[in-house]
Amino acid sequence: MKRLLDIGFDLNIFLMDRKEFLNQVGIGAAALLVPACIGGLAACGKSDSGTPAAPTNVDFTLDVSSGALASNGGFLVQNGIIIARTTSGTFLAVSAACTHQGTTVNYVSASNKFVCPNHGAEFSSTGIVIKEPATKNLTSYKTSLNGNTLRVFS
Ligand code: FES
Repeated sequence: MKRLLDIGFDLNIFLMDRKEFLNQVGIGAAALLVPACIGGLAACGKSDSGTPAAPTNVDFTLDVSSGALASNGGFLVQNGIIIARTTSGTFLAVSAACTHQGTTVNYVSASNKFVCPNHGAEFSSTGIVIKEPATKNLTSYKTSLNGNTLRVFS
């Protein structure tokens, strides 16, 4: 049978482990106390502050013969930019960080738009805000295809 002192010691170890775990995964106590953003602006607030700046002076190439961009509807993120291949085979490139609070957006090929999984902001295929809480557009980049080499540039 455990003594009260032993039980308190065990509980202390449990709490310390949990705190250490949260620190290691990068979740602060404040994050746990803030309710999830459900229901749009009233719960989320419109805060475009603290989002990473969109990449500038962009100029890189990708091989689209394999991987996510080999198929229509696929997308990937590279150098802070989300590159997507539409259902018709054209390429799109916009800054990947949602302008609301910086979450990486996804590409939804069925509706040809970029959607933030965090609070549901939506952006057109060229990065224009079509649904809040984001209020600033994503930055759009140019693309050109030469064989299987896709160039993404400012
Ligand atoms: S981070 Fe809030 S909608 Fe994207």
